[in-house]
Amino acid sequence: MARRRVSQLITSLSSPSRFPIARCLSAFSSPDLPREFTPKSWQSNPQCKSSINKAFSFQQHSFSSKTKRNPSYSFLNSDDISYFKSVLEEKCVVQDEERLSVANTDWLRKYIGTSQLLLLPKNTDEVSKILSYCNSRQLAVVPQGGNTGLVGGSVPVYDEVVISLANMDKIISLDKVNGILTCEAGCVLENLNSFLENEGFIMPLDLGAKGSCQIGGNVSTNAGGLRFVRYGSLHGNVLGLEVVLANGTVLDMLGTLRKDNTGYDLKHLFIGSEGSLGIVTKVSILTPAKLPSVNVALLACNDYLSCQKLLVAAKRGLGEILSAFEFMDSHAINLALTHLEGVTNPLPQSASKFYVLIETTGSDEANDKAKLEAFLLRTLEEGVILDGAIAQDISQASIFWRIREGIAEASIKEGACYKYDLSLPVEKLYGIVEEMRLRLDKMAKVIGYGHLGDGNLHLNIMTPEYTDNILTKIEPFVYEWTSAQRGSISAEHGLGFMKADKIHYSKSSEAVKLMGSFKKMLDPKLILNPYKVLPQSILN
Ligand code: FAD
Ligand code: MLT
Ligand code: ZN
Repeated sequence: MARRRVSQLITSLSSPSRFPIARCLSAFSSPDLPREFTPKSWQSNPQCKSSINKAFSFQQHSFSSKTKRNPSYSFLNSDDISYFKSVLEEKCVVQDEERLSVANTDWLRKYIGTSQLLLLPKNTDEVSKILSYCNSRQLAVVPQGGNTGLVGGSVPVYDEVVISLANMDKIISLDKVNGILTCEAGCVLENLNSFLENEGFIMPLDLGAKGSCQIGGNVSTNAGGLRFVRYGSLHGNVLGLEVVLANGTVLDMLGTLRKDNTGYDLKHLFIGSEGSLGIVTKVSILTPAKLPSVNVALLACNDYLSCQKLLVAAKRGLGEILSAFEFMDSHAINLALTHLEGVTNPLPQSASKFYVLIETTGSDEANDKAKLEAFLLRTLEEGVILDGAIAQDISQASIFWRIREGIAEASIKEGACYKYDLSLPVEKLYGIVEEMRLRLDKMAKVIGYGHLGDGNLHLNIMTPEYTDNILTKIEPFVYEWTSAQRGSISAEHGLGFMKADKIHYSKSSEAVKLMGSFKKMLDPKLILNPYKVLPQSILN
């Protein structure tokens, strides 16, 4: 038998050598992990095309009712194109319809802009020239990384010029003593991780979109992801940035020091600012050592309270080797199993309501195994978990991860997907999923999953198509509920276009006003990523 169920492990403990709990996954490297997402795959899917059309009517509707094109912005003309062609290589000034349609459409296919121009600068100087020109002409722009954002932040709302960082993908240096990587903003996260693994390091963040998202996009969204529980926020890991401001000024904050208390730490203003304050062109980041022993287990719990108990137990019992603690309800796992190809339930007999994926990463194979084994037996005996499976090799570990990471992809195959990304106190976190299920009854599928170790719930609500009727049943209820718990309406995805005018549910009016002042100071003509992050009303 390839996988060993936890329940069978109990009987095996008397002769542990016959029943190794988990093979050390020392070869566990991201190239072997599933790549569930590539922009091409969804664009060529006819089912996806039909939902693009559905989404388009929804988007048109919401734009006309909520946002108007800012009349101060210029319209692109032939002189502008000639200027860009004089600054960039001709092939980097893209007006081709098909390529523009990709750049205009977000990953969820919910937000679709009408930009007529995509620019692909190759270096910071080119970014600076583009912004300086756009600022002088008051041409609005949208910075774009891998376009995997989930809040409509990475695509134009109207005709903003798209500035893609895809051609800025050079690794500049790796300080092997201190584990500090410096690279251009367009480097794809997975490529950085593969490069680092060969050098004995890993990226401090990992997400399902790793095959497409860029480090500049990660920094600009302050992405969280699957390793956050272990390595923490990008506010801690990013050591330096190079940023081009709206007027073309290059701001060199590309430090590589762990400690530097000289004045205000300006880089933090740009981490998570979603392209609204400047374009990130270079990043230096602290990278942890690659450790040899990785184990992955998928566990089943009877109820949400057990998931919480498991989290507390994991923090105590696995301590320093815990590297991921992800949860999904049975609706979420079933959705993944329905829509993802070649994936089966590792716990087929289980009729459990919740599943938890635990990953441990450590330096001592024997010790780590013993620790995980003891932990699982303890939690099984205490009735915290009902069942579980431990990956015996890299391919099984990949399948476990594929199920969890593939939920976003599975969700959009249902048609329309209303996505909420909430930070809540762990004890309250699942309450909103249950309330939403009651509220919507048969009108929608409601799933709950996410980074339980960080108090981050992903609430996805799926219907065949986007309608105002459903939306009014979900919003503002979901935001009011979150605000009442003093939660955040965006744990990790950002505000983008979707939630720009919802910021007050999580931030005080004084704080929002100050944010508006920063925005106006750094980008007085408001050319950078308009209609996103902040309500328009405070920028007038
Ligand atoms: P884009 O989507 O292109 O842009 C995102 C925002 O950043 C936009 O506002 C854009 O204008 C701005 N931006 C991009 N590059 C720059 C730059 N160089 N300078 C200034 N602004 C810039 N997010 C998480 O936090 N955790 C997850 O676990 C997670 N998992 C995901 C799984 C899937 C399958 C998908 C599709 C998305 C997931 N996301 C997750 C969301 C998304 O991948 C992240 O927000 C990611 O950081 C976006 O990076 P990107 O390069 O695709 O940026
Ligand atoms: C995840 O954790 O899978 C991502 O944040 C994407 C999603 O919300 O599904
Ligand atoms: Zn997430």
